[in-house]
Amino acid sequence: MKVGVPKETLRGETRVALIPASVAALKKAGLDVLIERGAGAAAGFIDAAYEQAGATVASRADVFSQSDILLQVRAIPADLEALRPGQAVIGFADPLGSPDEVRQLSSRGVTAFSMELMPRITRAQSMDALSSMATIAGYKGVLLAADHLPRMFPMLMTAAGTVSAAKVFIVGAGVAGLQAIATSKRLGARVEAYDVRPAVKEQVQSLGARFVEMELDTKNSEDKGGYAKAQDESFYQRQREMMLRVVAATDVVITTALIPGKKAPILVTQEMVEAMAPGSVVVDLAAERGGNCALTKPDEIVIHNGVKIIGPSNPPALVPYHASQMYAKNITTFLSHLLGKDGAKKAALELDLNDEITRETLLTKDGDVVHARVRELLGAAAR
Ligand code: NAI
Repeated sequence: MKVGVPKETLRGETRVALIPASVAALKKAGLDVLIERGAGAAAGFIDAAYEQAGATVASRADVFSQSDILLQVRAIPADLEALRPGQAVIGFADPLGSPDEVRQLSSRGVTAFSMELMPRITRAQSMDALSSMATIAGYKGVLLAADHLPRMFPMLMTAAGTVSAAKVFIVGAGVAGLQAIATSKRLGARVEAYDVRPAVKEQVQSLGARFVEMELDTKNSEDKGGYAKAQDESFYQRQREMMLRVVAATDVVITTALIPGKKAPILVTQEMVEAMAPGSVVVDLAAERGGNCALTKPDEIVIHNGVKIIGPSNPPALVPYHASQMYAKNITTFLSHLLGKDGAKKAALELDLNDEITRETLLTKDGDVVHARVRELLGAAAR
């Protein structure tokens, strides 16, 4: 079977789904690898390195027409019509946020898999691209904040006087938030954090940060997949009231709070931003999902009363080399899982739908949207 890697078409997408180091593993498994000319350039991987690793560099048309399986960062390319029936496509497809786009994929007759829907089970950890990308986002979010803050992060005692440490408040301490805590700590900041899931308190403290206690009823805040559940507006209202005093005393706020398939909750209001000292920075890592800050504008730096609000819509694309390395590891491990033993030698993918990983990530097959949750969102009758 042939695996193809097209160049990403989304504006600002600098990542690539496969890096030269991962080509060898696929070749060893018996797969041929075709990569579109220049596909890795924005991430620092040149065509010659792919060729050296055993891949064939080809035109976009050849990659689409000759590949049995396409590996992409974004599963839905701008030139959707290039996909052909029977072809397998793996990538991020935003199935819960944009189910209509999944329908478009199904109309091409492809077998599509969504990296977002990877179950959070131990067996799938090395395929969990959401976690890898969140790690990068958490790290980069802190660096963006440090870069824009007119203060230093660490406390320094120098001959020119003492510099006090920056105060950082992380809202949402999942994968991105925990990495943001660790990165802020490494830079010497004083870090506080909050999350609605009570289990997180211990994780925050183990990284040396203070967990901000809020009197909120969070007993029902976590679903069985480990994700946060949406709360009603009165909950968020109370949370905002309690956060006001913390935010007002903070130099940097980094928000990461997400609810799968939903718009991000607004947790930082205009009033809170106005309570912050001029020069403070808010980095909204939920910008792609509408943002946790009421003033966020995706990919813009908004300055309000001297406070900067930064909302990168695709933070992993700001660290494309390692984001691609981690994503390539996730997607090739997933591909090996789908192929199973000797799968590469077969004429087509043979799917084992009894397997949780395969079943939960499968979006479309034979012209149909088959994922139950996505079908529900599309209003299609459940099978
Ligand atoms: P996420 O990206 O969906 O959300 C980020 C964080 O925002 C979460 O921790 C969530 O609880 C929090 N949040 C939501 N609403 C909030 C609010 N109103 N105020 C404050 N915080 C709010 O979540 P992520 O980072 O992808 O992972 C969530 C959890 O999933 C992890 O912490 C972990 O328990 C679990 N997980 C399990 C894995 C595994 O078993 N293989 C791998 C990765 C994560």
